[in-house]
Amino acid sequence: MNKLIPGVRVLCHSADDAPSLLQVCEGTQHAVPTTDLPYLPEAVIPRGQWRDLTQSERACLSAPMPADRQTPLIEILQIPPLVLESYAELRQLLSAPNSQDRVRSFCHSTTGKSAAQSFCTFANSISSDPSQPQQKCIIVAKPADMPTTTEDVPRKGLNGLHLDNWTRLPLDGRKDAENRIVVNLGIQDRFLLFLNIPIEEVCEHVMKHARKPDLLRTRGTEVARIFFALFPDYPIVRIRLGPGKAYIAPTERVIHDGSSEGSSTPDVTLMLRGNFTARTCCAI
Ligand SMILES: [Fe+2]
Repeated sequence: MNKLIPGVRVLCHSADDAPSLLQVCEGTQHAVPTTDLPYLPEAVIPRGQWRDLTQSERACLSAPMPADRQTPLIEILQIPPLVLESYAELRQLLSAPNSQDRVRSFCHSTTGKSAAQSFCTFANSISSDPSQPQQKCIIVAKPADMPTTTEDVPRKGLNGLHLDNWTRLPLDGRKDAENRIVVNLGIQDRFLLFLNIPIEEVCEHVMKHARKPDLLRTRGTEVARIFFALFPDYPIVRIRLGPGKAYIAPTERVIHDGSSEGSSTPDVTLMLRGNFTARTCCAI
């Protein structure tokens, strides 16, 4: 398999030229750990040059309108200027030395707490279940220019492409898992990387080629790595997210990672889990 097959769809609510936000690469590879990028030995990352989509790839990733609830959907949106304004102080810290420590201090400051409140009010407005108590929003600052950003904290290594596992639902039940919104609070572009095949279909592909009893109870990231070993030429997609842009994605159903490749200032994100949707606007 070396061409995108229909699966996960992308819906853009921001005013950008959405197709230009999307690119694909040639496939995947095992990551080589270095001092600066301490990848886990089993980590897998995208391989090859990123390029723009062909017409058929664009059609494959475009969300049908209206997108039905079963379609695994990634939404791209612009955070309202008033909400972003409350993080202006944080953005100013990012060109200074030790900015990652300063970001931590900002989060505990009165300004930081007030900004979080402002964001939570906005998040509530795009929640499909506003009565549900909200989780705490989390701000993370990572070094610049990382091909992938997610760290396995207990193992002190970079995960590479992975599946989130907060709900611990079986892999064929991930349609019911919550999603999350992640905002680029930094001052440069960052990316969302993803495999456009939802995990339940990844399992089907793996089961056709590899004997793996109890696959649906295996960790999603492990299943993803078997898939990548079987199909190393299957492309990974990336979405460019400028400052103030956010994505809503079912990251317990879609194999993914963040990336700050090419940046020179820290990658700062705000993340909140819930049941979010902003689906009212244009398809790509
Ligand atoms: Fe993740």
